[in-house]
Amino acid sequence: MIGPYDLPSHLPDWPLHLVEQRLSAAHHGNFERWMSAVAALPTDLTQSCTFSDTVSVELSSDEATETAIKENLQQLLPWRKGPFRIGQTFIDTEWRSDWKWQRLRDALGNLENQRVLDIGCGNGYFGWRALEAGAQEVIGVDPSILFCLQHRAVQQFVQDPRNWVLPLKGEELPATTQFDLCLSMGVLYHRRDPLQHVHQLYDLTRSGGRGVLETLIMRDTESLYPEQRYARMGNVWCVPSTEQVVTWMQQAGFNDVTVVDISTTTVAEQRSTEWMRFESLRECLNPDDPSLTVEGYPAPVRIICLGHRPS
Ligand SMILES: C[S@@+](CC[C@H](N)C(=O)[O-])C[C@H]1O[C@@H](n2cnc3c(N)ncnc32)[C@H](O)[C@@H]1O
Repeated sequence: MIGPYDLPSHLPDWPLHLVEQRLSAAHHGNFERWMSAVAALPTDLTQSCTFSDTVSVELSSDEATETAIKENLQQLLPWRKGPFRIGQTFIDTEWRSDWKWQRLRDALGNLENQRVLDIGCGNGYFGWRALEAGAQEVIGVDPSILFCLQHRAVQQFVQDPRNWVLPLKGEELPATTQFDLCLSMGVLYHRRDPLQHVHQLYDLTRSGGRGVLETLIMRDTESLYPEQRYARMGNVWCVPSTEQVVTWMQQAGFNDVTVVDISTTTVAEQRSTEWMRFESLRECLNPDDPSLTVEGYPAPVRIICLGHRPS
């Protein structure tokens, strides 16, 4: 059985001591409350699991247990990536992450026998989708302790040792372990040195493997280096042009870089819900002209690029 404190045993060079340090009350003031909620979730009621658009767990439980499960899952608000359904509880997350996966999955194809790394994986939603596509194993990393514990909450029910989410940053990973497929989605614009991040993505991809880079872009203009906030986010350092993203992937060493998708993010895809009660995309857009952010920049558009590391 996978317990909420368990660690993978097959990543010998990885800084798992950092994972242990971070999964502790000393690291985050809310840790004990969150971990109590995770530990209270039952591990023995699961009938079946489905890793489709809504990652779902069928339970055999009574009304009182269902209510307790929902209350414990709500201790882990805000839920940003999903959706999930655990028993009768539908976790209507801020993002329709299934829409992003629909844009990407045909380009990825069958992932049979592939080991996947997801850098900045949030709560690991895409890990379940990669398993659905046949992946042998998915390791996700994300510095957010809350998102790691959301994954552990889902794992209480799923109990699948093929999907891990660890509280690490991409730049903390040794390139001695490489993956068949490396995903970096929604991370690049948070990095002060975006080209270095693309190099890390490359270094973590095995020879002959593939890398996916998904990021906000400036569709019709030059790269943007916001002086203050972009769409109310204070930690956006660069929103590159389409050409810049492709060039960075090529400079890092990827071959055959293709643009899989370019989509404008809508308020149907990213919105406040019962499970994410803060403001969302709608409040980041100019109410008189939603093609602009409240700061006057072009509204969020995202690109997905796929590249190959030469054999
Ligand atoms: C916009 S979310 C994207 C989540 C998910 N990959 C997706 O595409 O929906 C960005 C995530 O990157 C994580 N993150 C930020 N800096 C990171 C870093 N240096 N290494 C790994 N993840 C990071 C954040 O905690 C956050 O969960």
